[in-house]
Amino acid sequence: MKIFIDTANLSQIKEINELGILNGVTTNPSLMAKEGITGKPAIFQHYKDICEMVAGDISAEVVATGFEEMIKEGQELAGIHPNIVVKVPMIKEGVKAIKWLTENGIRVNCTLVFSAGQAILAAKAGAYYVSPFIGRIDDTGWDGTELIDQIAHIFKVQQYQTQILAASIRSSNQILNCAALGAHACTSPLEPILGLFKHPLTDIGLKKFLEDAQKHG
Ligand code: E4P
Repeated sequence: MKIFIDTANLSQIKEINELGILNGVTTNPSLMAKEGITGKPAIFQHYKDICEMVAGDISAEVVATGFEEMIKEGQELAGIHPNIVVKVPMIKEGVKAIKWLTENGIRVNCTLVFSAGQAILAAKAGAYYVSPFIGRIDDTGWDGTELIDQIAHIFKVQQYQTQILAASIRSSNQILNCAALGAHACTSPLEPILGLFKHPLTDIGLKKFLEDAQKHG
């Protein structure tokens, strides 16, 4: 499973990228705004900076909602760097835009997916990735990982080529569940990724090894 970091924060991207296990970055308008990056020139420059930093898929989201506007913006975003994957929302005009962009050689990540029906539409339109937002489903009291399971099953039996990119991650355990259920990729904030390192027995074991190395060294 590919691991992406879900942030527009350059120092967090750098921290994970230096580990050598990062496969890409996802952003969205809210994550950009959180970093104080506003206005088209600054946003485009920020995407460029991320692309130059990470060798992997970088999702950049359109803010238009009409078909013509989305394909124009999608083309502009794709022009920033070959690794850009254009994020398009799961709406009717979005599905039309996914189809058009895909047919014109631009990879698309269909965002804001909350049901298997939406995932089928994105796959049929040719999306490269479909992003089910599992944390936001959990926030409503339901189990977001069930959606990953359902989509993974449908894509397998229907032989859809679209990759499942589990998004809206809140915990390390959700990353594990997504991997076990066959998600092709998972995008997570920094902390749940760092949480994968943690185990008390690793810390205790290392402490003991280092103490013993002192004794015999
Ligand atoms: C996906 O690409 C989105 O950026 C994302 O994962 C949103 O997650 P949130 O629910 O934490 O905002």
